[in-house]
Amino acid sequence: MTAELIDGKLFAATLRTKIAEFAATFEQSAGRKAGLAVVLVGDDPASHVYVASKAKQTVACGMSSFEHRLAEGTDQEALMALVDQLNADPMVDGILVQLPLPKHLDEQAVVERIDPNKDVDGLTPTSTGRLALGLPGLVPCTPLGSLMLLKDRLGSLSGLDAVVIGRSILVGKPMAQLLLAESCTVTIAHSRTRDLPDVVKRADIVVAAVGRPEMVKGSWIKPGAVVIDVGINRLPPAEGAAKGRLVGDVDFAEACGVAAAVTPVPGGVGPMTIAVLLRNALVAAHRNAGVALADGAL
Ligand code: GUN
Repeated sequence: MTAELIDGKLFAATLRTKIAEFAATFEQSAGRKAGLAVVLVGDDPASHVYVASKAKQTVACGMSSFEHRLAEGTDQEALMALVDQLNADPMVDGILVQLPLPKHLDEQAVVERIDPNKDVDGLTPTSTGRLALGLPGLVPCTPLGSLMLLKDRLGSLSGLDAVVIGRSILVGKPMAQLLLAESCTVTIAHSRTRDLPDVVKRADIVVAAVGRPEMVKGSWIKPGAVVIDVGINRLPPAEGAAKGRLVGDVDFAEACGVAAAVTPVPGGVGPMTIAVLLRNALVAAHRNAGVALADGAL
């Protein structure tokens, strides 16, 4: 079998086109653009590239982008004050504080300070709690993007066995909640799970989010399963090369021989994350401005 490739790049581009249409309608109704603020603390080059890409796509979709790049040495008080300022700013509908923060900062306290109505990352206790309760709210971008790809490929997920590998608050836990809400039978596997290959082998849906290059082998995958690879890992450079190859948490070549469909890395889940961030910001904007948006429109 040769697996179908799930083209996240194309899906994300289609989603952005729809977002741009709804952003234009929002602007007409609200008399202002929807706005997304991104806060980045420190000098991590990859994060700077990522934040620049977010800003560019936000503007390209007809929304306002507010970028706050703070020095590595920024203290807790200054960061909390910035969050307060963004919470109070009527032009800002969504606030994303890029994680991880430098070690000296209390990440949880910063996240908890974000107004849940502007929590486009879905990480505040309010958003997390609403997701667990099955109430509408803002959901973390990467798992929501992964779910969109799954539903596009499979239609109904009801009754399917899903294994999520990884239990992070950004991906694994919310992914499991989303799959449960779709009536999957969900297993969350992690570093202490026994017989991981056997656990994975039962699954119709595998979501790998552990950050270990090519850990999931083809022999672990049930023939015909759909595999979502959330990992983005850079391998050490080959001799003479400046940079190593990007690979996911799944051995892609092996998975292609067993699965029905697989997301590639890059070009799978990655492009979905920013598109869903824009979607979340626009959904928040409608709510914050009291402009109606049909359920499931975005
Ligand atoms: N760092 C890597 N991914 C993410 C994300 O989705 N949200 C935030 N805030 N930080 C990240």
